[in-house]
Amino acid sequence: MKKFLLGAFFLIGSSFASAAGGEGCGSKVVMVDGKEQTVALECSHAPIDHDDKASLQNGARMFMSYCVGCHSAKYVRYSAVAEGLDIPPELVETYLMFTTDKIGDYIDPQIDKAAQAKWFGKAPPDLSLETRLRGSDWVYTYLLSFYPDASRPYGVNNYLLPNVAMPHVLNELQESTSREEYRKDVGDLVNFMSWMGDPVMSIRHKIGWFVLLFLAIMFIPIYLLNREFWKDIK
Ligand code: HEC
Repeated sequence: MKKFLLGAFFLIGSSFASAAGGEGCGSKVVMVDGKEQTVALECSHAPIDHDDKASLQNGARMFMSYCVGCHSAKYVRYSAVAEGLDIPPELVETYLMFTTDKIGDYIDPQIDKAAQAKWFGKAPPDLSLETRLRGSDWVYTYLLSFYPDASRPYGVNNYLLPNVAMPHVLNELQESTSREEYRKDVGDLVNFMSWMGDPVMSIRHKIGWFVLLFLAIMFIPIYLLNREFWKDIK
């Protein structure tokens, strides 16, 4: 009985620990102005908090303004953004919807993938589950890792994705705001992307704590009952 309970708690604990997911940032050989260099890549820690509605709302604004021109998030509906982020649907329609006029539609600009592959060399992938695939820290670090490189078509390269086909779309924002503000905006953006990949995370965590509390409380009567039942037999 004791062993079983210990095992159960261990299992629950380890499943919490592995929920983070994604790959690390490792180290890579990159070309800097035509020369090979090995750079150690440490992931910056993305500020993920799905209960921070202001951050998610700012992230949604960033995503719709800067990313949906090329990327889709075709598993997420605009109406889900309105509901999940506590934004009145009229405001979503006016300020966040640029690709459709129906709030029930998915975030999908429906740009021809083949044409995009021709323009950029690679088609921009769908970003609905990007933070699940790569991990939020990876995406955050990626967005902060663009650097000038005159040998590339857009004059920029990326430490995490060498010879990246994506332009540095946040360049203007980066130049017009302070370092802290810029990191805050990028953090909010990644927080929103993480929410898209797992919109029920904060509900699930709350239910998880409730279940653990329930198990802990139930343990007492079950333990006492167990003692009572075996009392006369032993
Ligand atoms: C001008 C078009 C364009 C815009 C706008 C754009 N991207 Fe991209 N993005 C691309 C292309 C092209 C790639 C493929 C890069 C590659 O694989 O070399 C890409 C790749 C990515 C990747 C890496 C995907 C992977 O796992 O390999 C992420 C993350 C990403 N974009 C996020 C964003 C975010 C966030 C924004 C908004 C701030 C954004 N992109 C705006 C064109 C764009």
